[in-house]
Amino acid sequence: MAITALATELKAAGRDIIALSQGEPDFDTPPNVREAGIRAIQNGETRYTVFDGRIELKRAICGKFKRENGLDYETNQITVSSGGKQVLYNALCATVSPGDEAKTKWLILNSPSNPSGAAYTERDLRDIADVLLKHEHVWVMTDDMYEHLVYDEFDYKTIAQVEPRLYERTLTVNGVSKAYCMTGWRIGYAGGPQKLIKAMGAIQSNSTANPCSISQAAAIEALNGPQDFIPRNAQVFKERRDLVVDLLNKVPGLHCPRPEGAFYVYPSCAGLIGKRTPKGGTIANDEDFVRYLLEAEGVAVVHGEAFGLAPHFRISYATSTDELRDACARIDRACRALQ
Ligand SMILES: Cc1ncc(COP(=O)(O)O)c(C=O)c1O
Repeated sequence: MAITALATELKAAGRDIIALSQGEPDFDTPPNVREAGIRAIQNGETRYTVFDGRIELKRAICGKFKRENGLDYETNQITVSSGGKQVLYNALCATVSPGDEAKTKWLILNSPSNPSGAAYTERDLRDIADVLLKHEHVWVMTDDMYEHLVYDEFDYKTIAQVEPRLYERTLTVNGVSKAYCMTGWRIGYAGGPQKLIKAMGAIQSNSTANPCSISQAAAIEALNGPQDFIPRNAQVFKERRDLVVDLLNKVPGLHCPRPEGAFYVYPSCAGLIGKRTPKGGTIANDEDFVRYLLEAEGVAVVHGEAFGLAPHFRISYATSTDELRDACARIDRACRALQ
């Protein structure tokens, strides 16, 4: 977000910038969902709601978990927050005390992953589950935000579905931000054990209270309405992924794996570390590379160190093909100019 803000600032100052740092689809929210939001305003759905989400929305979420993940949740096992981020935050606030990472409390999974785009196969989840079954005190938080953005017929599964014996200690987190192109509406949700859901609700009730009433109405329409645009969007993202991976792998010094999902690629720039820029600087790490790319060619990406795995960088390909081609040509030029 900091890098996107910097790119926006440079753009406003007149620089020719291509931002590949944003973590959101470039598609608009579907028209039926936008209309549901407008209707909610006009119908006066503009007051406080139940602090962790309207019952109609909780029912829609139960329906989604059943339909798409084969998971049974009652409405009192569902919580709705202002985005997936708040769900994760509430869950940790409700459960974690100082020193807990030493005494493992949670295993947090995120598949497909931000930043790498990698996704766990059913086999991977099976192996993880087998370990977890031996450690009954460890809870599992799975961030499934990119569930619908998987390619090449990848068979998406979430862990409570793969191992029902983990259901009682799994928090399954999801949201409408990415699949429904609703990042600005701020609706995320989770299904999990009732006691945990209640504790998370208590935190929310006393902090931000209910997620936006209008956004809740829109999210009900998103989850209950037509879903056909989701695979269409995914197909567009797949084509962009292939374009970017193919172009980046032609750039000297870069190596880019082809990830299973999300809208990110996470190339290694190990081959560029130690090189010198035309202005005489040295690329000592991925942050230097990212800064050089922004200064020399106006391409904004995020350095891998920010995510904990370096020397890499993250590219979001949630932008037009023309812009992606231009960006890859600029990256190529920047890399070839290094000595
Ligand atoms: C893996 C993952 N989880 C959660 C979020 C946050 O989603 P929301 O915008 O609904 O808070 C993001 C946003 O980038 C994400 O990449």
